[in-house]
Order: sequence, then C-alpha cells, then structure tokens
Amino acid sequence: MSFLDLVLKKRNGGKLESEEIDFLVENYVAGEIPDYQMSAFLMAVYFNSFDREETAQLTRAMANSGDQLALSGIEGFKVDKHSSGGVGDSVSLVLVPLVAAVGLKIGKLSGRGLGHTGGTIDKLESIPGFRVSLSTEEFLAGMKKDGMAIMEHTSDLVPADQKLYELRDVTGTVESLPLIISSIMSKKIACGPDGVVLDIKSGAGAIMKEFDRAKELAQGCVDIGKEVGLNVTALITDMNQPLGRAVGNSLEVREAIKVLKDETSGDLREVTVNLVAELLLQSGKVDSKKEGVELTEDKLASGLALEKFESLIENQGGNSKITEDSNLLTASENRLEIQLEEEGYVSKLDALKIGRAANILGAGRQEKGEEIDYAVGIELEKKIGDELTASNTVARVHYNDDSNLEEAKTLIRDAYTVSPTPPSTPELIKERVR
Ligand code: URA
Repeated sequence: MSFLDLVLKKRNGGKLESEEIDFLVENYVAGEIPDYQMSAFLMAVYFNSFDREETAQLTRAMANSGDQLALSGIEGFKVDKHSSGGVGDSVSLVLVPLVAAVGLKIGKLSGRGLGHTGGTIDKLESIPGFRVSLSTEEFLAGMKKDGMAIMEHTSDLVPADQKLYELRDVTGTVESLPLIISSIMSKKIACGPDGVVLDIKSGAGAIMKEFDRAKELAQGCVDIGKEVGLNVTALITDMNQPLGRAVGNSLEVREAIKVLKDETSGDLREVTVNLVAELLLQSGKVDSKKEGVELTEDKLASGLALEKFESLIENQGGNSKITEDSNLLTASENRLEIQLEEEGYVSKLDALKIGRAANILGAGRQEKGEEIDYAVGIELEKKIGDELTASNTVARVHYNDDSNLEEAKTLIRDAYTVSPTPPSTPELIKERVR
C-alpha cells in the first residue's frame, strides 16, 4: 500500500477502507510517513471529510495506537469527562473531586493550554508541589484510594493523537469535524471508562463558533460512542463569554476553590453540577437529572467535595493548605483596573479577546513548550447582563511583565460591548445530546 495513493484517493473525494486507515495511523506513529505527506492528507480530509464509518475506524486505530488503561481492577462506575476547550474553563478542577464525592470513580488525563484556551494541567501545576506526571500505578492507586486522579497525557497512550494534533495545529487543519471527533473519542476509548460526559463549547471563544457546528461535533462523538460501545452524553454549553470570572492559572484555581467551598453560584458551578448529574444518571445511581443535580449540590454543601480536592492535592504531592490560605498560591506583583466610560449593561463579552489578552500577559503559550506565568491573568468584575456606571471597573489585570500590557488592555476593552438596556443573557446549557 502506498501512502501517496491514499492522499490522492482522499484528495479526489474517495472513501478509505478500514485497512487503509489502520495503515496510515500505524505507519505515521512508527515514523514511516513524513509530516509533509501527512499534512497533505490532513488537508484532504479537511476539504473532503470522512464519513461515519471512516471516522469510527480512524478513532479505533488511534485508540489502539498505544497502551490502554487497565481500569478493570477498579471497582465501581468509572467515568471520564472532556471539554472541547474554552476560556476560563476550570470545570475539571471542580468536577474531578465532585465526581469522587458523589461516589463515582474518575481517572482524568488532561492537557496543557495552547493558543487562547487554557489547560487543566497548567492550572494544577500552579498549585505548589502538585505533580501532574504520574506512573500508571500511581494514577490507578489514586483512583482506588480516593476515587480520582489527574495526570498529563503521556505519549504511551494514544500517541497517534499527540502526533496528529501537533501537526494539525501548525497546518490549519484543527477545525475538521472527523479529526476533532477521532481526537476526542480515541482518548476516551483508550482510558476505558464506563461512562463519558462531553462539554462541547459553542461561541466566540470555542473551537466551534456556531451552534450548528458544535451540535454536529456533539452528535458525531455520541454516534462514535455508540459505534464502539461507549456510553456518551454531550452538553453543548456557551463559550461566547468566558466561563466563571477568572482567566489565568492560579486565579482559576482560586475560583475553583470558592465553588468547592460552596461560596459562589454562577456559570462555572452550574455547568459542572450538570455534567456530574449526567454521569450520575449514566451510572444508575439516580433516576432523574433533577435527583443528580440535588445529590451533586449536596456534596458541595456538605464540604465533601472540598475534602476530596484536598485529598487529590495531597495524593499528588501538592500543598492542600491552599484551600485555607489562598496566599500560598502564586500571585502577580501588579494589578490594574480596567474601566469603561460607557453607561449601561454589558451585552457582549468576547471570550476569544479575553483569552488572547490573558495569553499575551503570559498565562498561556504562543508556542508549544514555552514557559508560562501561573500568577497572571484577568478577573472579570462584569459579565453579560451586569450593569455599569460611569468609570466602573469591568476587569482587573494581574500582571508581572508589562511588555504586552497595552495590547492586553485594548483587547479587554474591545471585548466588552455595552448596551443601554439590559440584554438577554446567553443560554448556558444550550442542548443535551444523547
Ligand atoms: N480537543 C481535542 O482533544 N482534540 C481536538 O482536536 C480538539 C479539541
């Protein structure tokens, strides 16, 4: 079989056979197919797409490209969660201990931020001492002991995704539905859970800007789940404005702790509680979504979710005292209030611009492997629907290095649209896909 023939076949709109898809994944991972040829293939897929069978086969081939996690030795209902990526998305920090608190088991493999979106691994690394690289034994031990563990994706698991994602990122082929579906679902399959919940973001700060595309992605993942025997529920959630009020690694950890202490309501809490309730429904522990929400909220109110978070930090070498004393978390040297002159109500808050501003302040990477500054970021005093008065502070910038400060300030100001009358707030959970 020649790889060039496969490139030509896809370029000309043909359908690939299962063996052909297996061939390209195996040989790319083995280093037998050069990046320049794979780039051409990815672009052919971008334009001519894959049908459901091809996508399912690509997903299986990618899932089989490395080790699989052996979760069979772990009792109970094992779950996993994946987000398609957004700004201020610290859901996993809250969800993992909350899942353990409601009596389910979760072993979460997460990634680092790239571009304007953050990554759970960077957020966790802002906790002093927290280890994100675990051996498989340590990971499974955390799940057995406290029902949870989080670690960084390793190249042993789904190496095909790691290689392909990096190449897609630099060849303009990220936004291809079959490529996103296979990337997400191969990682879920390799982790072998009993149930999966997907948080598919839709809006300015999401990979899928339009609702219809987000829905196609959600439906595609659910369908592939069906095809491979994995129980998947997807929620399509709003990413027109950032989730929560903090954007930046240690700022988001502070906000997650507030949610875990049940000290704050708002969109971050609501999305997380709904995702956990879906997992409870899948597990059969509850008979209705309403019951799932109540059980989950109960674990926030009782303090068990917070205790679980402290155990997670301790299990992975971090300082769990951060929940009592947030001064133990790194903080920036400088703060700057951003004010708008208009009066009225915030009617739009562009998540992409806020994500970019946080990124250039140093909270994220412009390029893979770059050092980031865990302390910097943006606190959003005002979000959609909030009222402004003259010279009202809308956001607070936390910074150390002022070289990109002016550009960040402009991005933040431009992110806000103010209208004279109260706007309708965007629907947070737009649709549930099963
Ligand atoms: N998240 C993933 O894991 N993969 C993609 O391709 C896009 C978002």
